Amino acid sequence: MASTPALRSQGLLVGYGESAATAVCPPIDVSVPPGAGLAVVGANGSGKSTFLRAVVGLLAPLGGKVEVFGREVDEREAEFRSAVATVMDEDAAFPALTVREHLLLLARGHGVAKASDLVTELVDEFGLGERQRAMPAALSSGQRRRMLLAAAFVRPRKLLVLDEPEQRLDAGMRDRLVTRLRAERAAGVTVVMATHDPALVGAASHALLLTESSVRSTKPAQALAFIEAL
Ligand SMILES: Nc1ncnc2c1ncn2[C@@H]1O[C@H](COP(=O)(O)OP(=O)(O)O)[C@@H](O)[C@H]1O
Ligand SMILES: [Mg+2]
Repeated sequence: MASTPALRSQGLLVGYGESAATAVCPPIDVSVPPGAGLAVVGANGSGKSTFLRAVVGLLAPLGGKVEVFGREVDEREAEFRSAVATVMDEDAAFPALTVREHLLLLARGHGVAKASDLVTELVDEFGLGERQRAMPAALSSGQRRRMLLAAAFVRPRKLLVLDEPEQRLDAGMRDRLVTRLRAERAAGVTVVMATHDPALVGAASHALLLTESSVRSTKPAQALAFIEAL
């Protein structure tokens, strides 16, 4: 028997209005098995972030449905929240906590064992060692982005949803992220990411191509060709 998809949408319409007519792209049909990596690719404004917001429950569908591990998405559900780690554009940090305190709070709040050791490893992996005592407001935009990425990996997760995680990362850090995402998938974590980065698309097993006229499930190789032609 095939296992329940980590993510599945059928006839999913996403957008910011009230009716299906206001959807920002055609209906989205996609199925992502556990441990797979989906690269969501498309021009700016094609609907990638909007789709991801529906996947994480920040935006209700205008039509169709979206399920995570066989359950309709409901971000108010504790089980959903504990399974899904996100790095979205609009993520906020606690303003009064240092980088290290922020990561520790998340790890401890989620009941992670050896939270302090894990935070030390992640601070190092994401190049924040020298800035771990800094307050979020004192970080550069790249450092802040790296803190938010690290925050996704200090907590339990079965599905990782990342919106253009390559933004504001230098080439070395992108390589590290690719390595990290491969390891996540090898550990059974499903990765769903909007990206324009060829190396990240290369770490995916599946692709979803958004254009004004169509939404297509395809292979990473086709998504790469699309990015290169943009
Ligand atoms: N908060 C919002 N309210 C209304 N329209 C929005 C909002 N965010 C994005 N849009 C519009 O929805 C469309 C898809 O945007 P988005 O999903 O952000 O695209 P992408 O992530 O692929 O660049 C665009 O036309 C954009 O202008
Ligand atoms: Mg976007």
